[in-house]
Amino acid sequence: MMEAHELFRYFRMPDMVDFRQYIRTLPTHTLMGFGAFAALTAFWYATRPKALKPPCDLSKQSIEVPGSGGARRSTLLSSDEPLVYFYDDVRTLYEGFQKGILLSNDGPCLGSRKPDQPYEWISYKQVADRSQCVGSALLQKGFKASPDQFIGIFSQNRPEWVIIEQGCFTYSMVAVPLYDTLGADAITYIINKAELALIFVDKPEKANLLLEGIENKLTPGLKTIVLIESYSSDLFERGKKCGVEITSLKAMEDLGRANRMKPKPPAPEDLAVVCFTSGTTGNPKGALITHRNIVSDCSAFVKVTEKVLVLNASDTHISFLPLAHMYEKLLMCVMLSHGAKIGFFQGDIRLLMDDLKVLQPTIFPVVPRLLNRMFDRIFGQADTSLKRWLLDFASKRKEAELRSGIIRNNSVWDKLIFHKIQSSLGGKVRLMITGAAPVSATVLTFLRSALGCQFYEGYGQTECTAGCSLTLPGDWTAGHVGAPMPCNLIKLVDVEEMNYMASKGEGEICVKGPNVFQGYLKDPAKTAEALDKDGWLHTGDIGKWLPNGTLKIIDRKKHIFKLAQGEYIAPEKIENIYMRSEPVAQVFVHGESLQAFLIAIVVPDADTLCPWARKRGLEGSFEELCRSKSVNKAILEDMVRLGKESGLKPFEQVKGIALHPELFSIDNGLLTPTMKAKRPELHNFFKPKLDELYATIKV
Ligand SMILES: *[C@@H]1O[C@H](CO)[C@@H](O)[C@H](O)[C@H]1NC(C)=O
Ligand SMILES: *[C@@H]1O[C@H](CO)[C@@H](O)[C@H](O)[C@H]1NC(C)=O
Ligand SMILES: *[C@@H]1O[C@H](CO)[C@@H](O)[C@H](O)[C@H]1NC(C)=O
Repeated sequence: MMEAHELFRYFRMPDMVDFRQYIRTLPTHTLMGFGAFAALTAFWYATRPKALKPPCDLSKQSIEVPGSGGARRSTLLSSDEPLVYFYDDVRTLYEGFQKGILLSNDGPCLGSRKPDQPYEWISYKQVADRSQCVGSALLQKGFKASPDQFIGIFSQNRPEWVIIEQGCFTYSMVAVPLYDTLGADAITYIINKAELALIFVDKPEKANLLLEGIENKLTPGLKTIVLIESYSSDLFERGKKCGVEITSLKAMEDLGRANRMKPKPPAPEDLAVVCFTSGTTGNPKGALITHRNIVSDCSAFVKVTEKVLVLNASDTHISFLPLAHMYEKLLMCVMLSHGAKIGFFQGDIRLLMDDLKVLQPTIFPVVPRLLNRMFDRIFGQADTSLKRWLLDFASKRKEAELRSGIIRNNSVWDKLIFHKIQSSLGGKVRLMITGAAPVSATVLTFLRSALGCQFYEGYGQTECTAGCSLTLPGDWTAGHVGAPMPCNLIKLVDVEEMNYMASKGEGEICVKGPNVFQGYLKDPAKTAEALDKDGWLHTGDIGKWLPNGTLKIIDRKKHIFKLAQGEYIAPEKIENIYMRSEPVAQVFVHGESLQAFLIAIVVPDADTLCPWARKRGLEGSFEELCRSKSVNKAILEDMVRLGKESGLKPFEQVKGIALHPELFSIDNGLLTPTMKAKRPELHNFFKPKLDELYATIKV
C-alpha cells in the first residue's frame, strides 16, 4: 500500500500531527499542487499492473548439479544436460538465416541510411541471393568450400558485413573479423596467423593500411582486397605494383552471379568465426568459435526469455556495437533466426541518437559506457532543483515497482517524466541488454525505471561466445549478473593466494557447455591456460554465489581489470614503464571498472627529484617539491612521454597522479617480503587520495 511515511519524508515532514499544522500554513497554490500530486499518486497506485510472471522461483535461480564438484546450472533446464539448441531446425548460422527468410515471409532484413534520409531496406531473399553470389565468387577465385578456409572482414557494421559473412557460411567458410582499434601491428599479426589471402574492407583508407603492410613485406600471403565502397584508380595502381588484386564487392557479386554454385552449408561443429581478442600483453589470440557455440548461446537467451519476449518480424534491432565482437554477433543471430529487421547506424556514434529516432528500434543492445553517458545527460538536463526532485521521486516510485518485478512504460511517471527519455530512443524499445563490462547498480536501476522495458544484464567473454550468465525476467534487481545460462554450467574454483574458497561460495568462475570455444588458433599454450583437461573454461574473474542462485563478480584473478569502456588493463606492465622516469622511484597505477581512465600514486626518488626539478626551474626541499603542483605536472608529462615511446595505448596512460613522499616498503605493509606491491593494501591505504583524484580530474 501507499508508503505514507515515505511521501512525507519527501516533504520534509516529521510526523502526522506536525503535518496537519503545516498544511494550514501553506499558501493555496501549494495545497492545490499537493492535491494534484496526491491524486496522481493515488491514480498511479490504482492502475498498478501485475508483475510479469518469472520463468522460475526467483529465490532459486540456479541449482547444484550432483557429482559435478559444486557446479550450478540454470533452474530453467529440466535435466542436468546443457541446452545445445532451441529450434530443431536451427543448428548453424546458415540454418538460422534460412529460418529468418521463412518467418519474415521474405520481409525487410538489413537497413541502412544516408545522412538525414530514411532507412532503406533489402529483403531476406535479396540478402541470401547476394550472399550466394559473394560465396560463389570466392569459389571462383580458388577458395575452398571448407571450414578451414578463412576469409577476412575489415569493416564497420553495415549490411554488406552480414552479406559477406552469410556468403562464407553458405559455403562452410570461416569469417575472421579485423577491427581498427587493434592497431597496425596486431592486424599484421592476425593476417599472418590466420593466413588470410583475401580481405573485404569497407573503405579505401583500410585498403591503404593493408597495402602498406604488403609493401613492407610484412604480409606476403595477402593477395586480394575487396572494397565495399568505391575507390580511385590510384589505389588500384598501388595494389598492382605490389602484386595485390584490388576489386570491388560489386564485381565479386557479378562474378558469382555468372558462376553460381550450389550451397554447401556447414555442420554444427564446424568453425564459424575466428574472433581475435586483444590481450593485455603480447599478440591477439584468435578464439575458435563454431556454429554450435553461437547457436547454443543464442538458444540459451531465447530459452530464458521464451515466456516474456517472442521476437518476430515486427522487431527491429539497431546494430552499432562492433560486429567483430561476439556480443553483437550473437544478438544478430537471435534477430536473424526470428526474421527481425536489422538497422545499422550511420557509422558515427555521435549520430546514434538521430539513427535511433529514425529507426525506432524495439531491440537496443548497450554497453555500460553508453548507459553512463545517458545517465549523466539525463541528470545534467534536470537543471532546477524541482526537476531533480521530480526525477528522483518518480524513479524511486518506479524502483519500488521494479522490486516487485514490474517493469513498464505506461505509469503516470512515464507519462509525466520519462516519456521524453523513452522517445529519444525512438519510443518503441522493448528489450535492452547490457554486457561487455560491469555496470553500476545505480545507473542500471535508474535506467530500468526510466526506460521501462525488459532490461537484462549478461556476463561472459569471447571464449564462451559472449554470454555465460544472464539476469532472469522478473528479477530487476542490480548488483549481480544473473544465473548460469541454460547452455552452460558454472562452477567456482579456489584461488588460495587471494583467499577465495569454493567452500565459501567464492572462487574463479569456470564455465563448461556447448558455448565454450575450441581453443585459440595455433596456440596450444594459451589454449591450455584457458581450457583445462575436463573442458572447463577458466575465466580469470572471481565470482560469488548469492543466496538466490545468482552470480556476483567480485574480483579479477590476475592483476588485470577492465575500465568502463571494457578495455583490459595490466597495471604492472604500465608501472614498469613509468618507473623508468628519472624522478620516479615507485608507481601504483589504479583504475576502476566504473571509471574511464587510470590514475596513479607516485613516490618520487629522493636522490634525483631535487636536481631534476632544478633543471626545470623548480626549487625546494624534497617534501616541498612533493607538494608542488608544477612538479606534479612535470612528472606526469614525463611519465606520459615515456608511456607513448613505449607504445602504451592512450587508455593505458594515467590521466592524473598524486605524489607521496614515503616509499612503499615491507615495514609499512605495502610490499610483500619479495618486494612485490600488495595491491589491495595499496588501494586501501591510498583510497582517499585516489577518490580525490577521480573527483578532480575532468577528461
Ligand atoms: C509480432 O508479435 C506481436 C506481439 O508480440 C504482434 O502484435 C505482431 O503482430 C507480430 N508481428 C508479426 C509480423 O507477426
Ligand atoms: C512501451 O513498451 C511497449 C512494449 O513493451 C512498446 O511497444 C512501446 O512502444 C513502448 N513505448 C515507449 C514510449 O517506449
Ligand atoms: C537475490 O539476492 C541478492 C542478494 O541477496 C539480492 O540483492 C537480490 O535482490 C535478490 N534477487 C531477488 C529477485 O530477490
